[in-house]
Amino acid sequence: MNSESGLPLLDPTSFLAALPVPAILLDSQRVIRVYNDPAEATFRNVRAGYDLSATLRRPRLLEAVDRALETGKTESCRFEWGGDPAKTFEADASRISTPESAFVLVIFLDITQALKVEAVRSAFVANVSHELRSPLTTMMGAAEALEGPARDDPVGRDRMLALMSQEAWRMKNLIDDLLSLSRVESQEFIPPNQSVALKPVLESARERLAERAAKRDMDIKVTIETGLPPVSGVDDELFQVFDNLISNAIKYGSAGSTVTVEARQSGSLALVSVHNEGPAIPALHLPRLTERFYRVDKSRSRELGGTGLGLAIVKHIVNRHRGRLEVASSEKDGTTFSVFLNFAGTG
Ligand SMILES: Nc1ncnc2c1ncn2[C@@H]1O[C@H](COP(=O)(O)OP(=O)(O)OP(=O)(O)O)[C@@H](O)[C@H]1O
Ligand SMILES: [Mg+2]
Repeated sequence: MNSESGLPLLDPTSFLAALPVPAILLDSQRVIRVYNDPAEATFRNVRAGYDLSATLRRPRLLEAVDRALETGKTESCRFEWGGDPAKTFEADASRISTPESAFVLVIFLDITQALKVEAVRSAFVANVSHELRSPLTTMMGAAEALEGPARDDPVGRDRMLALMSQEAWRMKNLIDDLLSLSRVESQEFIPPNQSVALKPVLESARERLAERAAKRDMDIKVTIETGLPPVSGVDDELFQVFDNLISNAIKYGSAGSTVTVEARQSGSLALVSVHNEGPAIPALHLPRLTERFYRVDKSRSRELGGTGLGLAIVKHIVNRHRGRLEVASSEKDGTTFSVFLNFAGTG
């Protein structure tokens, strides 16, 4: 029993065993005395009785341990460990003094994921700024032309006004997409609970896009298996999914071809596929299509008014629905996006 606190003396081994992260206790000679299971699983050749440098040859870590012993303050450092892919750890070394000597407790936090999230966030901000800046620059150029050379030229004036309106629309679409994305992201962990009949959802997406398809001399054909039960979901969100997929099929499919939308039962799930003919998406792009701002052909997609957020929104909505999104694309068979959804009452 510890006389001052009234607590029993705790054995360092059981103390470290209670920590959910890798932890190593060193003596004042930097020799490993105790370590826990997570430390063994992470830094495989950790051995009691050896200098820390024999297990973890990371100069920054060794320096942090020496500093902690010297100063008595908690000293932190970061280092990479392992390969394929390497993980980044943050180590905190703290001195523990006893009347006879000193020890250092080193606790390791795996911050790989946190760094990745931070990198994604800053890339996202950079992308948004870039995507907003290009239409703004065009609009500023057009405004300047209207104040100067195009002021008394009716043809030039109309052209500049049309350009400004087109770019303003582009910005509005981008902002609408960003808002949709943030809405679905914030709700991703709340499962949807309505019972949704697919027919009206698919029909209204077809109606909204029919005119756009006609401009490319395309048809949208919707087939729904008779007696297909309703799915579990949110109708506005499912509308967004198919609106995005069909609008992609119209944008990137071959002019004059048919976009085929088919809903049917597939095993215990509902399957809605959206198919178009046209150039295949090269296989190396397929896994990245649902990343925000990812476009196979940046200039072509931008020309068509795309920002590369459509499929990111689709993916988040499908995730929220506990469903699955698959893509298959080849020159011969064209491109098919398949969405698997749970039937109402089963998901
Ligand atoms: N049916 C398809 N056929 C060929 N390529 C496609 C198809 N659907 C999507 N893509 C490719 O995937 C990219 C990402 O699609 P996504 O819907 O996310 O963005 P977008 O259509 O460019 O813009 P947005 O949907 O935000 O207006 C597209 O730029 C295009 O290169
Ligand atoms: Mg799109």
